[in-house]
Amino acid sequence: MFEKIEMAPPDPILGLEEAFKRDPNPAKINLGAGVYKDESGNTPIFRSVKLAEAAILEQETSKSYLGIAGAPEYAACVQSLILGQHPAVEARRAVTIHAPGGTGALRVAADFIKRAKPDARVWLSQPTWPNHPGVMRAAGLAVETYPYFDAQTNGLAFDRMAATLEQIPEGDVVLLHACCHNPTGVDLTLEQWGAVADILERRRLIPFIDFAYQGLAQGLEPDAAGVQLLCRRLDEVLVASSFSKNFGLYNERVGALTFVARSADLAEAALSQIKTLIRANYSNPPAHGSKIVTTILNTPDLRREWEAEVTAMCDRINSMRRLFVQGLADLSLDRDFSFIGQQYGMFSFTGLNKEQVKRLREEHSIYIVDSGRINVAGMTRANLPVVCNALADVLK
Ligand code: LMR
Repeated sequence: MFEKIEMAPPDPILGLEEAFKRDPNPAKINLGAGVYKDESGNTPIFRSVKLAEAAILEQETSKSYLGIAGAPEYAACVQSLILGQHPAVEARRAVTIHAPGGTGALRVAADFIKRAKPDARVWLSQPTWPNHPGVMRAAGLAVETYPYFDAQTNGLAFDRMAATLEQIPEGDVVLLHACCHNPTGVDLTLEQWGAVADILERRRLIPFIDFAYQGLAQGLEPDAAGVQLLCRRLDEVLVASSFSKNFGLYNERVGALTFVARSADLAEAALSQIKTLIRANYSNPPAHGSKIVTTILNTPDLRREWEAEVTAMCDRINSMRRLFVQGLADLSLDRDFSFIGQQYGMFSFTGLNKEQVKRLREEHSIYIVDSGRINVAGMTRANLPVVCNALADVLK
C-alpha cells in the first residue's frame, strides 16, 4: 500500500534548520527560522518564564486533561492581551480556544472555515509565510493571493492590494498579518488598516488575522491596534495568535484561536463546532505553556518583568536593523538597503535571488530562506560584519 511513497521536498524554513545542523563549519550562522537570539547568540528562556515555571511545578497537583478548548483563564488572558477592553469581549461575542502554537490555531481556524463555509476561498498576501497555503489547503480550502509587497520600493503595494481586495467575492476570507509581516517586515499603518476595514466591510469579506509577533514591532499595545480596529469595525473576525516569540515558548506550542462573532449566541455555537473539530484532531491542548502564560499575565511582578523582556527584545531587533543598514552602507554597495531600517519584526526581504542565497549557504555557511528572507533577530554585533561581507560577496 505504501510502496509508491516518494520523498517530499524539505520544508522551506524548518528544512533549513536540519541543513544548518548538518553543516560542520563552526562559523556557520543561522538566519533562517524566526527564532530570537540575544547578543550572545543564544535563545534563552525568559526570566519571567523560569519564575512562573518554578511556581507552577511547586503548585501543580495533577496532569489530568484540560477541556477541549483549554483553560478558561488562559482564554481570558489571550482576549485581554490581543483585544484589550474591547466591546466584543464585553458583549461576549469573542470566544477563544487554546491551540498548539500559532500554526495549530491557523489549522483549527481553517477547519472551521471549511465546515462553516466550504466554498470560501482564503486570500493570502503575496508573499506570505510559506506554511500559510499548506495549512489552508490541508483543510481543503482553496487559496488565492492579493498583492502586498512592492519589490521596487521595498514597501507596501497598498494601491494594488486595495484594488484586489475590492474584487474579491463576498464571503471569502482575507488573511492579514497583524504586525511584523512574515516574510517582508512591511506593515500596514493604522490609516491603512482603516482603509482595509472599509473594503472588508463593504465587500462583506471575513478577516482572518495571523498575530504571531505581538510586541516585536512597536510594542504590545500598538501592535494590536490593527486587530482591535478590525474587531471593532467588522461583525466576524478570526485571530490566530501565538506566544512562541513574545514569551520565547517555541517548543511548548502555545497559541490561540479567537473568533469574534455577530452575537454571543453565535459565538457559543461556533465554539461548539470548533470543539468538535479539535476533538477529532488533537483532542485537547497541552497544559504547560498556557499555564506559564496565564501565571505571568495574572501576576503583576511577573508581568512587569515579562513586559520589560519583550521591550528589550524589540529594542535589540530594532538596533540590529540600524546596525545592519549601517554595516551594508559602509561597504558602498550598488544597492541601497536603508529600507531594512523602516521595517518591523524579525524579518526583512533582502532582495537576494535563489542563486545568491545558495552561495551564502554554500560559500559562507550563512543560512537564510530561499525567498531572500533574513532573520534580523538572529544577528548579533559579533556576526554582523561577517554577514554584511558575505552579502557583499554574493551581490558582486
Ligand atoms: C518562521 O517563519 O520562521 C517561523 O514562524 C517558524 C516557522 O514555523 O516557520
